Amino acid sequence: MTVLKTSVLSERDIDCAAEILARGGLLAFPTETVYGLGADACNGIAVARIFAAKNRPRFNPLIVHVPDLAAARRLVVFDETALRLASALWPGPLSLVLPLRKGGGISSLVTAGLDTLAVRIPGPALARDLLVRAGCPVAAPSANPSGRISPTSARHVLDGLSGRIDAVLDGGECDVGLESTIMTSDPPRILRPGGVSREAVEAVLGRRVETASHPAPPSDGSAPDERPNAPGQLQSHYAPQAELRLNAESPASGEIYIGFGVHGDLDGGNGEALNLSPEGDVTRAAANLFTVLRRADELAQGALCKKIAVAPIPNDGLGWAINDRLARAAAPRD
Ligand code: TXA
Ligand code: MG
Repeated sequence: MTVLKTSVLSERDIDCAAEILARGGLLAFPTETVYGLGADACNGIAVARIFAAKNRPRFNPLIVHVPDLAAARRLVVFDETALRLASALWPGPLSLVLPLRKGGGISSLVTAGLDTLAVRIPGPALARDLLVRAGCPVAAPSANPSGRISPTSARHVLDGLSGRIDAVLDGGECDVGLESTIMTSDPPRILRPGGVSREAVEAVLGRRVETASHPAPPSDGSAPDERPNAPGQLQSHYAPQAELRLNAESPASGEIYIGFGVHGDLDGGNGEALNLSPEGDVTRAAANLFTVLRRADELAQGALCKKIAVAPIPNDGLGWAINDRLARAAAPRD
C-alpha cells in the first residue's frame, strides 16, 4: 500500500488518490473530524471492501461525502430545516440524514437498505478537492478497525489498517478530532453528538433540538419512549485495550491518568502526565482525545494494572460528544 504524502501539497498526490477512488479502490483520507476510509459510494464491490477491511457489521450504514451542496441534492431530498443547517454549517463536521433519492446510484450496502442517507461536505479544502477530482460520491466510515479508537493522523490509520487498504493520503492531523454530529431534519434530532455542538445547531435553528442519546422526557409526564438511535451506534466502541474508569478525580495506584483542566498533571506511576486540555477547554480536549487515549493505552499495556482513569469532563459544547465517546470506550465488551 502507498502513503501519499502532502506535507508539501502535490497535485500528483491528490490526482493519484482520486484515481484510486474512481477505480474502485480503498483510500484513507483526512477530514476535519477523523480520517475516513473512502470508496466510490456507487460501486457496490468497492463499498463491500470497506466493510471487509474494517470488519464492520453490514447493518451499520455509511456516511457519504460530497464536495458541494449541488452534489448532495442529487442524492437526498432537503427540506427547509436541512437547507438552513447546510448553509450555516457546511462545509463542516455535520452529517445530515435525509430521504434518499431514487436513481441517485448509491449502493444499497451504503445505506444498509434504509430509505435515508447520511451526507456531509467535509471542511478541509484538500478533502473537497479530492472529492471533485474523484468525480463520485465517497462513502467513508472512520478509517479504523470496527470498534477501536478512531484515527486522527495517517500514522493511526496505518497502525490499524496497514495492508488492508490501497493508500492513505497524509494531510496531517485532524483539527476537530471527533466524528461529525449526525442529525435528522424532520424532526431536528441529534442521533450522534460530534464536532458541531448542540448549542451551535440550536443557534442556527432558533429552537431546541431532540437528542436520541439523552431523550428529553415527554412534557405530559409519561415515561420517555425508546427513541431510535443511529443504527450503528454500538454500546461498546472507540475501545482501548485497557479498561477505562470515568469521572476520576485522581488515579488509583498504578492507573494511567488522563487529566483535564485542574484535574491534571497527576500520573499513576507511569511518569508521563497526560492532559486533554490543561486550560480546561473542551474544544482542545476533543482535538486531543483519540491521540491521548492511544498513548494512555500504550502506557497501560506496559503497566501492571492495565487500567486508565479519566478526569471528569464538563458536558457543554464538544464536552457532550467527548463524554459520549468515553462512555462507549468504557462500556462492557462482548
Ligand atoms: O466525521 C465523521 O462522521 C467520519 C468522517 C470520516 O466523515 N465518519 C464516521 O463514520 O464517523 P462512521 O461509519 O464511523 O459512523 C457513521 C455513523 C454510524 O453510527 C451510522 O450508524 C450512522 O453514521 N449512519 C449512517 N447512515 C445513517 C442513516 N441513514 N441513518 C442513521 N444513521 C446513519
Ligand atoms: Mg467510526
